[in-house]
Amino acid sequence: MKKISTLIALIVAMNVAAQNSIVVNTKAGKDTISRYIYGHFAEHLGQCIYGGIYVGENNPTIPNKDGIRLDVMQALKKLKVPVLRWPGGCFADTYHWRDGVGPKNERPSILNVWWGNVREDNSFGTNEFLNMCEELGAEPYISGNVGSGTPQELADWVKYTVHPNGSSPMTDLRKNNGRAEPWQVPFWGLGNEAWGCGGNMKADYYANIYRQYATFMTGGGKKLYRIASGASGDDYNWTEVLMKELPKGLYDALGLHHYSVIDWQKKGSATQFSEEQYFITMKQTLLLDELISKHAAIMDKYDPQKTKALAVDEWGGWYDTEPGTNPAFLFQQNTMRDAVLAGSALNIFNNHADRVKMANLAQMVNVLQAVILTNDARIILTPTYHIMEMYTVHHDAALLPVKIISEKYQVGNEVLDAVNASASMDKTGNIHISLVNIDAAKTQEISIALQGETYNVASGRVLTGNTLQQYNSFEQPNAVIPRSFTDATINNNQLKLKIPPHSIIVLSLSPAKQRK
Ligand code: AHR
Repeated sequence: MKKISTLIALIVAMNVAAQNSIVVNTKAGKDTISRYIYGHFAEHLGQCIYGGIYVGENNPTIPNKDGIRLDVMQALKKLKVPVLRWPGGCFADTYHWRDGVGPKNERPSILNVWWGNVREDNSFGTNEFLNMCEELGAEPYISGNVGSGTPQELADWVKYTVHPNGSSPMTDLRKNNGRAEPWQVPFWGLGNEAWGCGGNMKADYYANIYRQYATFMTGGGKKLYRIASGASGDDYNWTEVLMKELPKGLYDALGLHHYSVIDWQKKGSATQFSEEQYFITMKQTLLLDELISKHAAIMDKYDPQKTKALAVDEWGGWYDTEPGTNPAFLFQQNTMRDAVLAGSALNIFNNHADRVKMANLAQMVNVLQAVILTNDARIILTPTYHIMEMYTVHHDAALLPVKIISEKYQVGNEVLDAVNASASMDKTGNIHISLVNIDAAKTQEISIALQGETYNVASGRVLTGNTLQQYNSFEQPNAVIPRSFTDATINNNQLKLKIPPHSIIVLSLSPAKQRK
């Protein structure tokens, strides 16, 4: 018996990778991790808006306020959603905002040509979106129609939403529609994926169009934060052209879209995947670091003071849709793979806080890497939801630089760093460290040297699953939830812990009390 247990201990020991070391400089906080990095995105696509967020004012079975689901709102409030991008996506460049304001029975129906040719009755429009953002405490990011709209239409939309009461026919229209005072709409996107569904434009053509549209957008005394439709993945020429051609006074940020996709032709199941497929998903996710570094290097040439931001306004995992669902609705389940993906991507965004000032997970409810899935009156919170919630500690905190020496995670002949991390100091002086072990099988030992003040571990939370494929279902909604983590030790500012395979840990440290 003893021999067997010794053997098991040996096997377990062999499965614990040697040493990962991290240095956190607690005194070097310079850049703020913008809370907008924790932004979301909701498109008129499948059941994101209709069914997922908005169920209609007269819905007899799903509790709602003004048609907005109360259960979804309650869950989203816990995420402290800082910014919400709407109405698309590809849908944005087909959307004419006037169709979605005024009495609902007079709003025309249109065909949602990008997402399944379904009927869009425009019952969720500008007023509904902006009122919902107010209720949520999220700042709106409206993605304007540049692909099939006009500069006048976009300029009018800005007036309708933010200009002071009584200042124009558009603000009169707003008042007639039940809202006298303007909303706060700081963020405006000028087109979406202009290189693709937003008009198949070339970079220099879009740059000209951008200049035209931006010229006529006036904030009625308020600053508009304008975001140009950015590059797809590694299209560095797009960034180069925009940085060269856009007048500094007409824009504030460039977008960047990158999805973690195994293969656009063979995306694979969201729940039944091999370790090889998982590895590719993670490789695609960690690529964000290189993409951001290279786009940022181009921006540095034209904007060394870093006055312009990079907004990763679409990111996330993209797999095959769930069997039996409309393929055009992009409904996919969400496993521990997605939690590892989200934890790693957010660490990358945090570590690029000097240039990345916004990111928007695609998408909020029922579409792609959603934080919430709904089924009629039921909802579940996905593993990705829990990561977003655990990482709220980083919102607007000072980024602390981390140096990481990581073990390698190998599949076939390829390797990735097994461990990634980011750290920040919040306004009370507490430090938060988010750690991800992407290794599918090995526990990683990590030692973290804290340079600077002396700290104690105040608390820790871990998100892990029995398998990488584990997910929350409507039958088992709490299969994957964060749990308390108490196994970190600290001695002489040297933290030690073991992080299980495919897991995410967030540690909170407080300054040790001053000795008298
Ligand atoms: O998020 C789904 C789609 O992906 C968006 O509509 C589009 O911008 C991107 O290609």
